[in-house]
Amino acid sequence: MTITDGGTVTDRGTAPLLSRGRVEFPDGFIWGAATASYQIEGAVNEDGRGRSIWDTFSATPGKVARGDTGEVACDHYHRYVDDVRLMRELGLRAYRFSVAWPRIQPDGSGTPNPRGLDFYDRLVDELLRHDITPYVTLYHWDLPQALEDRGGWTSRETAHRFADYAEIVYARLGDRVRSWTTLNEPWVSAFLGYGNGVHAPGRSDPADALRAAHHLLLAHGLGVRALRAAGARELMLVINSSPVLTPAQVIDPDATPSAADAEAVELIHALLNRQFLDPVLRGSYPPEVLKVVERHCGLAHIADDDLGTINAPIDLVGVNYYNPCTVEAGPGTPADPAWPGSEGVRFRTPDVPATAMGWPIVPTGLSRLLLRLSRDYPGVGLLVTENGAAFDDTVTDGRVHDADRIAYLDGHLRALHAAIAAGADVRGYLAWSLLDNFEWAEGYHRRFGLVYVDYTTQARIPKDSALWYRDVIIRNGLTR
Ligand code: NOJ
Repeated sequence: MTITDGGTVTDRGTAPLLSRGRVEFPDGFIWGAATASYQIEGAVNEDGRGRSIWDTFSATPGKVARGDTGEVACDHYHRYVDDVRLMRELGLRAYRFSVAWPRIQPDGSGTPNPRGLDFYDRLVDELLRHDITPYVTLYHWDLPQALEDRGGWTSRETAHRFADYAEIVYARLGDRVRSWTTLNEPWVSAFLGYGNGVHAPGRSDPADALRAAHHLLLAHGLGVRALRAAGARELMLVINSSPVLTPAQVIDPDATPSAADAEAVELIHALLNRQFLDPVLRGSYPPEVLKVVERHCGLAHIADDDLGTINAPIDLVGVNYYNPCTVEAGPGTPADPAWPGSEGVRFRTPDVPATAMGWPIVPTGLSRLLLRLSRDYPGVGLLVTENGAAFDDTVTDGRVHDADRIAYLDGHLRALHAAIAAGADVRGYLAWSLLDNFEWAEGYHRRFGLVYVDYTTQARIPKDSALWYRDVIIRNGLTR
């Protein structure tokens, strides 16, 4: 790693990995924050909302830390007007939120529930009134329980139900919402939901996980087709894309992996990233993924024209980045239940500082990832749809001094800037998250917000990072 005169750190003397000093982002760069319905809304029994797999899962003892559930969460369903005002005060220009499918179709199919649609209608109007651009995600993990009872994502039927649902939401909001995301992180839905059971619905069978992955992709493709036909202009898939690196590469980007380690890296890259991006952007599965699928469940669930459907053109790939995935060859290592096909690969935690989630802090992972995606999938724009960190925040005299989060965000924005400078087409950055919220199996004690939430009073306290971020947005860049 070297530092050039231009003030950038470079990877092997070619691609810059971190911009240093004062940096400015391109004109029109999108700045915002993200949330998801089940993590913030609460009001699970109101206005005709049906049950989701997360209601069931979080009510099952032992599934979520401390028995936390999304029943109240941040009570955003009742406080959205104040929350939008807060977004405005923090200078956000864009807000990514998700629609809860069970509010729209309580049983997952059929006639829509008008009161569910009304909520998002009001939210969108409120955002627009404050000049904040809405980014709608249709599926951020709260599958209607009724669909899970009929097989969930292991059933092909769910993909068709998703397309119907997408059309319903578009019909109501499409006149005001330009940007539409089909799915958030399908790898997580499939492999944590059906592979290791850490997420709802809590099933654990590798064959189910692999089938679910394909049906999620099919849902995306059918959803894109339906949305495009209805007139949608900007369509996106959001993935949890980590660069896959050896532990040595995390410390020194110039480190050269052994042949065995390089093979482990490429296998995991195929299972995590290419399993989703290749079908969507190239119309085919990577051969190594097909081999794993065939071995675990055969290929009968993949119909002849599925890949054509899945390959429908999209405008952007949403990149959620938190940390690299770190692996090396480990002879005789059994497959991790979330990673069918990963026998012989050892997942390692690199020896670098970590967040409260235990996730290694590696800003250069973001530039490496964006540069690789740009190289491998030219022609599609990128948007960082999530990036952020949980730390053990505390309130002192009414303030939250989260210097560690500011450092995390600053580092990742410098990585993002470097990727743009090296040619990556990255349109914007959405911090995760606006508010502290229900962090899935971890419950409420993991705080990712720019804004602290006191769950006993529902008071919102902008952390120092929120005020720092407001300045970044005003300047369209970083100062030091
Ligand atoms: C990605 C998910 O989309 C989001 O729901 C979650 O809270 C963050 N990662 C942090 O784990």
